[in-house]
Amino acid sequence: MTTGLIVALDFPDVDQAMAIARGVRDHVDGFKVGHELLFGPDAAPVERVAGLGLPVFADAKLHDIPATVEAGARQLGRRGARWVTVHASGGRQMLEAAVAGLNEGSEGSAGVLAVSVLTSLGDDDLAAIGMMGEVGDQVSRLVALSASSGVEGVVCAVSEVATAKSTAPGLIAFTPGIRTGKEGVSDDQKRTSTVEEAVAAGSDYLVVGRPITRHSDPAGAAQSIKNQLSDSGMDGMG
Ligand code: C5P
Repeated sequence: MTTGLIVALDFPDVDQAMAIARGVRDHVDGFKVGHELLFGPDAAPVERVAGLGLPVFADAKLHDIPATVEAGARQLGRRGARWVTVHASGGRQMLEAAVAGLNEGSEGSAGVLAVSVLTSLGDDDLAAIGMMGEVGDQVSRLVALSASSGVEGVVCAVSEVATAKSTAPGLIAFTPGIRTGKEGVSDDQKRTSTVEEAVAAGSDYLVVGRPITRHSDPAGAAQSIKNQLSDSGMDGMG
């Protein structure tokens, strides 16, 4: 399968997000709605973006007691989310509750994505919150837990895809932190990867925000990434 492209609609209001989404919809495979829209002033951001006809990834990063996460995931499923993120560190019961809630709310048409270790955290940060050992070990442990709890995929850095896929080959991997190299900036991303690196690592979907949404020609920027994805995919098949 050719790697897909999800555009992160990180905007303060739904009208801005919809304007960009309409402009790029023919060049992408889905949209991500994150905290800025979910917690913003406008009602129903997931429904409105889902109304464009492409899958919506609700990046809610749920982490609470199982009953609360189950209820939250159920609501996002009802609103038309195709994927919902949860923190794997919430534990097995919480992950299973998220899967059950989302399944019920979406009538079986959506899947949970687990976030293992935030890419903003390093070994020292883990030690400071009482998690001993290396980030890679923690990622493997949480990916294995997530897979056996019924999630559909994981969100991780490109550098972690190999670990995730070797731990749980059936999971799909979503990778943010992509930079095309043309814009010459990494914004606030600490560890970035190129489209080719993501495809080579086995990423199933790239999650790209600012390189598309802040580009002077968002549709052109999205199509250029799609072209790179199909070229890299062909290379992989050869
Ligand atoms: O603009 P940019 O391409 O950096 O956007 C990446 C998107 O992916 C943002 O919405 C960000 O919140 C999200 N994300 C990330 N790193 C993670 C998980 C999600 O950058 N580990």
